[in-house]
Amino acid sequence: TKPIYILAIESSCDDTAAAVLKNDQVLSNIVAQQAVHEQYGGVVPELASRAHQQNIVPVVDVALKKAGVKKEELSAIAFTQGPGLMGSLLVGGSFSKSMAMALKIPLIAVNHMHAHILAHFIEEGTPKPTFPFLALTISGGHTQIVQVNSFFDLKILGETTDDAVGEAFDKSAKTLGFPYPGGPLIDKYAQNGNPKAFPFTKPKVEGLNFSFSGLKTQILYFIQKNQAINPNFVEENKEDICASIQYTIIQILLDKLKLAVAETGIKQIAIGGGVSANSGIRNALLQAEKNWGWTAFIPKFEYTTDNAAMIGIVGYYNFLESHFSNSSVVSKARIEF
Ligand code: KG4
Ligand code: ZN
Repeated sequence: TKPIYILAIESSCDDTAAAVLKNDQVLSNIVAQQAVHEQYGGVVPELASRAHQQNIVPVVDVALKKAGVKKEELSAIAFTQGPGLMGSLLVGGSFSKSMAMALKIPLIAVNHMHAHILAHFIEEGTPKPTFPFLALTISGGHTQIVQVNSFFDLKILGETTDDAVGEAFDKSAKTLGFPYPGGPLIDKYAQNGNPKAFPFTKPKVEGLNFSFSGLKTQILYFIQKNQAINPNFVEENKEDICASIQYTIIQILLDKLKLAVAETGIKQIAIGGGVSANSGIRNALLQAEKNWGWTAFIPKFEYTTDNAAMIGIVGYYNFLESHFSNSSVVSKARIEF
């Protein structure tokens, strides 16, 4: 049978990304990162959409060239419909619509959260989760536990009621004076610290939902109080502070995963999003495999941070079912499965 070639475009936040897939295999996966936000300590929406406008044509060109696929060979174009920053989504959305129309090929609108989960089905020669499984999506923008019954039957079991996990890392890091995004630095210093040195309290949240804003405030007050007594407090205790913060965050995630496993009886856990790079969560999952018989799935890093290949795999499974969008489809800052 004829291969299916999908061009996928992701522009929900600050990275402009394009990928080309041949069926479920990735031929190219290009990301243009926007350095402009670092100096502001977070993503500035207005600057993000302007940079998407500058980046999108060259990023798509490079993705097609690197894949060795001509645009006339494409079967469909998949793009991120939402959730995300409206101005950013609109750039990728309108580009994709025009290109699909010009090439007279189908358009496929993709939910970004769906894509973080189906990223596990990109063909890499590694084991894939089987249905049903639990997905934990953790990044700078998301924190969700989803029960995945099939490619298109997903149910949110819990999500954050305020900050995302990545924000908890990044805002704590900011309190410690680290540059943005500070999550990876907390991870780095945590490796040599004592996770029990400074006990922080975990928030009490019903069911499978999360809350991280209380922890952020708790850490801020803790640092302010101790710095007032000893101005070198952070400098002298950096490793222990980072290990303690990371330990608390991991325990919050693990408690909810344990509850989700108990409630559903499902022991396959697929994690995604930038925070899945964290060594603490990876070690915790390895332990859970040993101690509780869980099976954990972690995609390759380039498919787990924001990328277009994951949009492409959702596009591919939609294509197989002839699930297409028409050109009046609208971008949505918030979106359900
Ligand atoms: O998926 P991602 O690249 O973009 C979105 O936010 O959607 O995730 C970025 C987030 C940031 O908050 C960053 O600090 C966090 O992932 N992160 C980490 C680590 N690597 C990335 N957090 C903790 N430990 C890490 N090793
Ligand atoms: Zn994301």
